[in-house]
Amino acid sequence: MKSRKFRVGIIGGGGIAQSVHIPGWRNLPEVEIVGISDLSEATAKKAAAAAGGAQTFADYRDLLKLDLDAIDICTPNKIHTPAALAALNAGKHVICEKPLAVSTAEVREIGKLADKKKLKLMTAQQQRFTQSGRAVKAWIDGGNMGEAYHARVRAVRRAWLPTAPGFIDAALAGGGPCMDIGVHALDLCLWLMDFPNPVRVSGTAKTVFAKGHDMPNMWGEWDRARYSVEDFAAGFVHFDNGATLVLEAAWMCHQTENEELLAQIFGKKGGVKWPNAEFATVTNGAFAQGTLTHPVHVERPHWNEIAAFYDCVVNDKPSPVPWTETIKVIGILEAVYASSQQGKEITLKL
Ligand SMILES: NC(=O)c1ccc[n+]([C@@H]2O[C@H](COP(=O)([O-])OP(=O)(O)OC[C@H]3O[C@@H](n4cnc5c(N)ncnc54)[C@H](O)[C@@H]3O)[C@@H](O)[C@H]2O)c1
Repeated sequence: MKSRKFRVGIIGGGGIAQSVHIPGWRNLPEVEIVGISDLSEATAKKAAAAAGGAQTFADYRDLLKLDLDAIDICTPNKIHTPAALAALNAGKHVICEKPLAVSTAEVREIGKLADKKKLKLMTAQQQRFTQSGRAVKAWIDGGNMGEAYHARVRAVRRAWLPTAPGFIDAALAGGGPCMDIGVHALDLCLWLMDFPNPVRVSGTAKTVFAKGHDMPNMWGEWDRARYSVEDFAAGFVHFDNGATLVLEAAWMCHQTENEELLAQIFGKKGGVKWPNAEFATVTNGAFAQGTLTHPVHVERPHWNEIAAFYDCVVNDKPSPVPWTETIKVIGILEAVYASSQQGKEITLKL
């Protein structure tokens, strides 16, 4: 008798679904992608073909009527919350692209519903599943860093501004580079620091270049009239254990690097940088330093992340990226925006 496969539905069949989520699911022999929902029929059909012949739906509520084990959400950010709530209410486990939601109220609502329904919920933070992420985490867990007292987080591009409405229209994106790429480096850094509680945040968020024509964009032209998110943000965070963190996120700025993604943590015994996995310390009174990884030819962190979600569902393990961690990441980013708007430091109670 043929055993039943693990049945997955995907909401949002665009870029990230086709490039990495569908291949990641298809890499798991016990999984079948049963249905795909997208507002665009052509996109849904293309994704369904890539998925090996899934059914297609314009409205994700029709997809949720199918017998499915899990839903994978790959829509623009602002659709994450309604889609996740609907999927959980339909009894499906949920993996959702970052950011899980663009406000702490929404993260809490989704998380509490998953807990109440005893369903798995995972934010797709693939950087935790890179070789360098794992190597730096293992080095820290091995006691090499000691107490972390400060961190630097950068997700800063010279001129890679995403042009799709889902990224630049605030009604769909809910935020600019903070929510798009800052969320990656910040999640990674907080994970490496064991998620201390953020208590105070001051920040700034502004649109410096994206409304004008000063900067060439390596991804081409964009709709300046529709552009309604920041293109630069910075923040300063205090944690309840006394540690601090500085954050910078930008899609455009004058720097020589095309992109810098960085989490650098200063500990009392040693310091470490991700993603290049360099460490610095002192051994027997002498400076010591090195690199924790070797270059990898092919790395598929999204595939690893999807495999980890599948494993947590079928083997009833804790979520690899639980909402109780995600809410600290989103809490900081939300407070950067609030501080910028209100012109004062924000006190966080998460
Ligand atoms: N982890 C990463 O490295 C990474 C990279 C890129 C994007 N993302 C995230 O993935 C998500 C999607 O980004 P993308 O680049 O694939 O965007 P995209 O625009 O290529 O695809 C999004 C798709 O969602 C569809 N959609 C919109 N509303 C919908 C609805 N109500 N029901 C069903 N489908 C709907 C759109 O038609 C589109 O095809 C975003 O949240 C983004 O932050 C993550």
